Amino acid sequence: MTDTAYPPISEQLDDLESAREEGRRKMDWAAQHMPILESVREEFVADQPFEGERIGMAMHVEAKTAMLVETLAEGGAEVAVTGCNPLSTHDDVSAALDTHENITSYAKRGVDDEEYYAAIEAVIAHEPTITVDDGMDLVAAIHEDYPELIDGIVGGAEETTTGVHRLRAMDADGALEYPVFAVNDTPMKRLFDNVHGTGESSLASIAMTTNLSWAGKNVVVAGYGYCGKGVAKKAAGQNANVIVTEVEPRRALEAHMEGYEVMPMAEAAEVGDVFLTTTGNRDVIVEEHFEKMQDGVLLANAGHFDIEIDLEALDDLAVDRFEARDGVEAYELEDGRKLNVIAEGRLVNLAAPVSLGHPVEVMDQSFGIQAVCVREMLENGDAYDAGVHDVPDELDKEIAEIKLEAEGVDHDSLTDTQREYMDSWDHGT
Ligand code: NAI
Repeated sequence: MTDTAYPPISEQLDDLESAREEGRRKMDWAAQHMPILESVREEFVADQPFEGERIGMAMHVEAKTAMLVETLAEGGAEVAVTGCNPLSTHDDVSAALDTHENITSYAKRGVDDEEYYAAIEAVIAHEPTITVDDGMDLVAAIHEDYPELIDGIVGGAEETTTGVHRLRAMDADGALEYPVFAVNDTPMKRLFDNVHGTGESSLASIAMTTNLSWAGKNVVVAGYGYCGKGVAKKAAGQNANVIVTEVEPRRALEAHMEGYEVMPMAEAAEVGDVFLTTTGNRDVIVEEHFEKMQDGVLLANAGHFDIEIDLEALDDLAVDRFEARDGVEAYELEDGRKLNVIAEGRLVNLAAPVSLGHPVEVMDQSFGIQAVCVREMLENGDAYDAGVHDVPDELDKEIAEIKLEAEGVDHDSLTDTQREYMDSWDHGT
């Protein structure tokens, strides 16, 4: 292991013992609701598939992710972890992780840009043989600044849509030099985590942060992808009037056929009470929209980066700015209107002060896939060239079966005759 100047969390906290205890308490609660990781962990403890491996991770360091980190460490890996967003880390959980003999955690909440990247470098200094990312920061930093490590890296796994987009762009440019699984793209991840997880936790975080109701509000959901669908459905379920904005015609049509109003942001800006961006794109809500908004609107983002709402433009328009509540910054405009930004425009379900991220059960699925992807990369790494790879369907089904069994849900299987029929092309009328 290389020496690093940036210290682990244990060297940064004052009341370390109570932080560790609280972090462990949060992790124990999560563990009780993560049957998939429990099952995978039992297998890893018995087989020690990661012995001698070093896993570098940049993820939202909170209780659920911590269970993945521990699961990989229990499988024999030496794990170095840091955050993937300066506001999503729970310091107590980070401290609890750092007590494990196989884990070093550098994640700390509220770090500035310089510290954030210093912590990423500290993880890279462990010379990982596998990377696990949420947003591709590790892959980017390794390729840009530490290309000499690439030969020693078996592969990686990426958690989120934005990370997979960035990786595919890198792959298309021929710049991605090791194989990475697109964990985000598996059915077991995005049909549950992006849809239900983002839907439930974003709305819960906004409600808790503001103490305001959804009922009767005009809620503008920007982007009707996996996350947007979840947000729209759950907001409608809480009696909001949902308005969708989209740039992709089929998704706009889908939203229309679901019964939501679809209109350009320029129109939605005039009528919305709450705006929630879920596009993974930039500049979705900009100056021309702020100019039309009603007094008191709420602005929040659930996309990966804090660039969906143009806060610089809003700051330029504002004559005053103040913290209206914990996690709510009011921007007062010249005409007296106040526009309220939640969690600094960072992903609201993780970055608001009360946010807890996705529900535990949902992350059990996402992290179950991550864990078996790391196993697959080490067992069959030679089968994967440099580039982005779909996760083998068998792994996704393996996780679904564990979850169904844990839920006590039985389901049918194809008979041999049915399987033969489904695989044939010569059975006509
Ligand atoms: P997706 O690709 O399924 O959906 C994005 C949608 O936004 C697409 O339909 C696209 O056409 C639309 N869009 C793009 N630019 C737009 C614009 N200017 N105006 C309106 N619509 C626009 O992606 P998915 O899976 O829904 O993820 C969206 C973002 O959320 C990504 O950044 C992803 O990393 C992030 N994410 C956040 C989570 C969280 O916990 N908050 C969880 C999972 C994903």
